[in-house]
Amino acid sequence: MNSHILVIDDEKNYLLILETLLEEEGYTVTALFDPEMALDYLEESEVDVVITDMKMPRISGQQVLEHIQKQHPHIPVLIMTAYGSIDGAVEAMRCGAFDYISKPFSNDELMLSVRKAALLSRAEQEKRFLTQSLAELYGPHRLIGRSRAVREVLQIVAKVAPQKSTVLISGESGTGKELIAKAIHYASPRKDEPFVSINCMSLSPGVLESELFGHEKGSFTGAMAMKKGRFEMAHSGTLFLDEVGEMSLELQIKLLRVLQEKSFERVGGSKTVHADIRLVAATNKNLKQEVDEGRFREDLYYRLNVVDIHLPPLRERREDIPLLVAHFLQKFSSENNYEQKKFAPDALEYLSAYEWPGNVRQLENVVERCLILASKNEIGVEDLPSEIKDEEAQFKSAVDLLPTELELAGTLEKIEAALIRRALVKANFVQVKAAELLNISKSLLQYKLKKYNIQAK
Ligand SMILES: Nc1ncnc2c1ncn2[C@@H]1O[C@H](COP(=O)(O)OP(=O)(O)OP(=O)(O)O)[C@@H](O)[C@H]1O
Ligand SMILES: [Mg+2]
Repeated sequence: MNSHILVIDDEKNYLLILETLLEEEGYTVTALFDPEMALDYLEESEVDVVITDMKMPRISGQQVLEHIQKQHPHIPVLIMTAYGSIDGAVEAMRCGAFDYISKPFSNDELMLSVRKAALLSRAEQEKRFLTQSLAELYGPHRLIGRSRAVREVLQIVAKVAPQKSTVLISGESGTGKELIAKAIHYASPRKDEPFVSINCMSLSPGVLESELFGHEKGSFTGAMAMKKGRFEMAHSGTLFLDEVGEMSLELQIKLLRVLQEKSFERVGGSKTVHADIRLVAATNKNLKQEVDEGRFREDLYYRLNVVDIHLPPLRERREDIPLLVAHFLQKFSSENNYEQKKFAPDALEYLSAYEWPGNVRQLENVVERCLILASKNEIGVEDLPSEIKDEEAQFKSAVDLLPTELELAGTLEKIEAALIRRALVKANFVQVKAAELLNISKSLLQYKLKKYNIQAK
């Protein structure tokens, strides 16, 4: 490990001893006798650890420490004090010095302390690097789109991210709710703290409760040890409650209480735990409607819905499709070292016309699949998945009927039949869903299926 240590001491013989010792251990050492020069040096160099003498003319070790704490808080500082001047050392530790060494020092003691400081420094650097790359991965700039809807969402994200306000994100499955939640976190002052997410749909109410609030040892059979919940894990960071509309009414009451009191007890415990979290919730349901129909508590709804962000389905912002396609092509090609492929203009037209019931996630999957399966550099209509080609074909055939037949009733019936088929395909042949898509009742759909002799599986 080749950490860079800056040593500051006005006594040149000490400086020389330290330099030699540390270099022998394999460190890169910069030794400076003038603290002022040392502080300038810090501005332009990457230093991992600073060792400074306490008593120096003009600028004291204490002042060096204070300066570093302010300007370079991630650099650990070791203070050297003359034997017996323990007060200065105590004060330095109180101000955040990593450790102190009294002169004359034992080599082992010094090296142990330097090694620990260098490790801490490295860990801090890695952490900073990681959050930087996480912010790079998940920052708002990852949200692709030029539609008004996306631009408005980005504006809200920019405004709300620096605040602590609770945000409720709504939108169909695959519209990018989680992407927005992360963008908010990584653009917020909490970006170096954890982003913890939990999906309320995938867990049974009992499990969800202990996942959220943690549990004490022995609180139920199988609770072998105390476990922290997501609220605690997200302390000083952001908690993302995904599919919040799926939460049971009992748990909704508990959540509301926690949000009001900012504290809670672990399951089976009586100790009060505090957690400072920023809450972002997401739902693919119409939560207001859930409230009206008694499945979601109104008071909780208003607590969550302080700032609301709605992501419209992809079919309502088709102008984003070509940009997203280009983005995913680029992403998958560089991730997998594929050669750069592109979609033929008519294939891109099909993609832009498709209804995308699975929204951006479905589009992402289709692009990936096409990249893998297409044999030529240009991805053609023949390479598209059948659901996209079929839908287009059915719709075209319905429209194609128009110019050839002038008889009104028959033509309209054919178009109606084509639209019904299209709805059935999209609804995976679930009749209730198809009826919903067509905005007709299920019984009317069944009547029409019979009338047009359509097989509904
Ligand atoms: N505007 C966008 N730009 C780039 N990628 C996007 C965009 N919207 C969504 N995605 C990508 O689409 C996929 C689905 O997004 P995400 O998981 O955020 O959706 P979701 O709304 O949370 O879906 P679900 O309700 O199914 O959980 C992700 O891989 C995400 O990166
Ligand atoms: Mg999601």
